Amino acid sequence: MGSPAGRCRLTGAKVALAADADLLSEAQRVSGEVDRIFEAALADRCDGRDRLCGAMRHAAIGGGKRLRPLLTVAASQLFAIDEARALRAGAAVEAIHVYSLIHDDLPCMDDDDLRRGKPTVHKAYDEATAVLAGDCLHALAFELLAEPATHEDPFVRAELVLELSRASGLDGMAGGQMMDLAAEGQDLDLGAITRLQSLKTGALIEYAVEAAAIMARLTHEARVPLKGYARNVGLAFQIADDLLDHAGDEAAAGKRLQKDADAGKATFVSLLGEERARAQANLLVEQAIEHLHDHGEQAELLRAIARYAVERDR
Ligand code: IPE
Ligand code: IPE
Ligand code: MG
Ligand code: MG
Ligand code: MG
Repeated sequence: MGSPAGRCRLTGAKVALAADADLLSEAQRVSGEVDRIFEAALADRCDGRDRLCGAMRHAAIGGGKRLRPLLTVAASQLFAIDEARALRAGAAVEAIHVYSLIHDDLPCMDDDDLRRGKPTVHKAYDEATAVLAGDCLHALAFELLAEPATHEDPFVRAELVLELSRASGLDGMAGGQMMDLAAEGQDLDLGAITRLQSLKTGALIEYAVEAAAIMARLTHEARVPLKGYARNVGLAFQIADDLLDHAGDEAAAGKRLQKDADAGKATFVSLLGEERARAQANLLVEQAIEHLHDHGEQAELLRAIARYAVERDR
């Protein structure tokens, strides 16, 4: 990261540029660290499970934006949490995210053949292996959190596990995925689409930030602004995903686009149209940044991530 003193002398747009240069280098650094955690966990078991290990590595290593672990690391910087611990919690939420992508791409769900610029797991391997790779990444997430290396306090570890299970299950990502499938061909109103998206995508993004608050042992009251930030970023991020599907570049995104409309998906774009959906995403980013008003320069990375959530092309 750049020198804090140097950045203090910059004003206006230059502050944003300085922060975004930091964002790129932080994202690359966090990606490398998350790769290392997965590489250590996913070494081959040469007894018939090597195919499964290969499929997990195919999905989990060397790809994706790593937005969720980056959020955990950025939020941890507010509370001076040891980065190695933040990375373990970030890798846990990334493991759940990668499992959700493997299953999302299956023929019984969105039926996609390209993810992160590579063939989807069921294409590179087979459907049974893809289901099992997802299952194992799901389990790996909780293993990472429950190990003492993540936090010395077992109550903190238990809360990390509890909140990730809530964010992943019926009242989180998987529940949201069911709502997404059930809504195909339906006309949902703004409230219903917001609920669907805040479960399917928002819950894990909110957890990525909350994990830092849990490790810092913040009271529930003290967590409120960060929750507001994460909720707005999560919604803005999924609107950006829907906008990319509508009009993005497939090579940059590394996945098939222009599929949501044909599948009859209920999204902000299908309800509001491109322009109003983009305005809504920008408004959510402004609101996210507003929630950080009590934090100074140490929240610049969180602010840059919020802006990136809607400015991205992948
Ligand atoms: C894609 O997530 C699916 C959504 C929840 C929107 P990302 O856009 O974070 O995918 P990766 O991790 O960069 O591949
Ligand atoms: C997927 O949403 C969300 C989860 C995997 C939980 P999408 O189906 O819109 O994601 P992409 O567009 O395939 O990445
Ligand atoms: Mg989907
Ligand atoms: Mg999909
Ligand atoms: Mg999508």
